[in-house]
Amino acid sequence: MSSDIYKNISGGGVPWDMEGPPAALVNLVVQKTVQPCKTLEIGCGMGNAAIYLAKNGFDITGIDISEMALSEARIRAFKDQVECTFLCVDFLKDSIEITNTFDFIFDWSVLHHIFPEKRKEYAEKVYRLLKPGGIYLSVCFSENDDAFGGVGKFRKTSIGTTLYFSSEKEICELFGLHFRKIELEIIQIEGKPKTHLAVYALMKKEI
Ligand SMILES: C[S@@+](CC[C@H](N)C(=O)[O-])C[C@H]1O[C@@H](n2cnc3c(N)ncnc32)[C@H](O)[C@@H]1O
Repeated sequence: MSSDIYKNISGGGVPWDMEGPPAALVNLVVQKTVQPCKTLEIGCGMGNAAIYLAKNGFDITGIDISEMALSEARIRAFKDQVECTFLCVDFLKDSIEITNTFDFIFDWSVLHHIFPEKRKEYAEKVYRLLKPGGIYLSVCFSENDDAFGGVGKFRKTSIGTTLYFSSEKEICELFGLHFRKIELEIIQIEGKPKTHLAVYALMKKEI
């Protein structure tokens, strides 16, 4: 992928930048499936989810490959007077040596940027960074979604990125080695100009 997808976006706003945090994440917090804890968001973008979690007492670190997105995230956190740690990190390349660090890790609309040949490494890195008993949430575009041509596993978007659309089986197999499945389903997620179908996978790292 391009090192900074935000550089390719002109006019009309960033297609995944919604007003607030994703509804499914809010549900996890409201239902206390995840409680305030040390949390890592991979690919936090402009910080909407991270800021929501900080407002709800989470100790949140958001990482993203885009310094442009992180600058905006820092401005938003400052405006909302919440503390978040935002770091420019390529999750696949930069070394994050610390292990067993987070109680909750999530990525929202990020895994479809990671192609199959890199996903095993991605899953193993999440595993190493999560404490035993920790929770991991991953949400990525489903192959059943009709966006960007509507068919095929690899699809080219209007901002010039190529994304990989997953099946539930692929996600189950990818994370099954390391995590116990809590929920795996297709959900509808917000997007501009329309909603998308996504694979929602909530998992636990066994102790
Ligand atoms: C579709 S956006 C979603 C952003 C945010 N999660 C949201 O929902 O608003 C995908 C994000 O993942 C980031 N990203 C993609 N690959 C990454 C990587 N290898 N390491 C860190 N961030 C990455 C992009 O820069 C972008 O901000």
